[in-house]
Amino acid sequence: MSRIDVVPQEGCGAEIRGVDLRNMDAADLKAVKAAFAEHGVVFFRDQSLSEDDHIALAECFGPININRFFAAHPAHPEIAMVAKEADQTDNIGGGWHTDHSYDREPALGSILVARVLPQTGGDTWFASMYAAYETLDAATKAEIDGLGAVHSGRHIFGEGPDSYYQTSDAGAHDEGTARIGNAAVAEALADVVHPVVITHPLSGKKALYVNPAFTVRLDGMTKEASQPLLAKLYAHCFQGDFHHRFKWEPGSVAFWDNRATWHWALNDYHGQRRIMHRITIEGCALH
Ligand code: SIN
Repeated sequence: MSRIDVVPQEGCGAEIRGVDLRNMDAADLKAVKAAFAEHGVVFFRDQSLSEDDHIALAECFGPININRFFAAHPAHPEIAMVAKEADQTDNIGGGWHTDHSYDREPALGSILVARVLPQTGGDTWFASMYAAYETLDAATKAEIDGLGAVHSGRHIFGEGPDSYYQTSDAGAHDEGTARIGNAAVAEALADVVHPVVITHPLSGKKALYVNPAFTVRLDGMTKEASQPLLAKLYAHCFQGDFHHRFKWEPGSVAFWDNRATWHWALNDYHGQRRIMHRITIEGCALH
């Protein structure tokens, strides 16, 4: 019997109390997995995870996905560095998105550990895509039933002159210190189609699965023709009713599910450093 306390957070997610992530027994792990599937993102406070602990924790949930585009931790390739230095203006993840939707089998989710935090700012927003779907009106639910959407990572990570990689100072402008790289690999990515509404592989609940960063159009339609429906869905998701703003503290850990949430790392701490360690866990095809 686990003594874990699951405290739902306003808007999205749950805080899990009463657990040391370095020492979970089988009952604790089962309770964390259940809360993760139900709430889409779970938060932990006052943890003391070393890099090895972080890796061991991630492996409890599935194989680790080695990030192709972010700089890796120098001693632990499993850990992607989500870093913004004091002299940098652009950050990683600074807009609503869900990671890896450009992959045929999108990653399950990520475990983010705070390492260096700014004095002020640097919070992360999360949005529930379960709630986004549930609160759509019946006509919109009928309109998107059975539709697919095309996802791509090239305009973010690729070599095009307008890609984030090329235009941001998180990109490869300083040889050896780049925080995003591997544009040639991004260029080789084939576009993928996922259902606009998925049945979540863990919870069995329906979730909206399009996002402003990586969804480029609806399947079988041009970008222009896709725009009104995608804009309507995004406007619905932008409402605050199912958002939660997570304030990082030393020892904070967030574990989000890419299939059930969006997230957005606020970029409101210029001149300060923010270093986060991210481990991403492999996922599966979505239906
Ligand atoms: C991300 O993985 O998108 C970054 C999240 C964050 O830095 O808060």
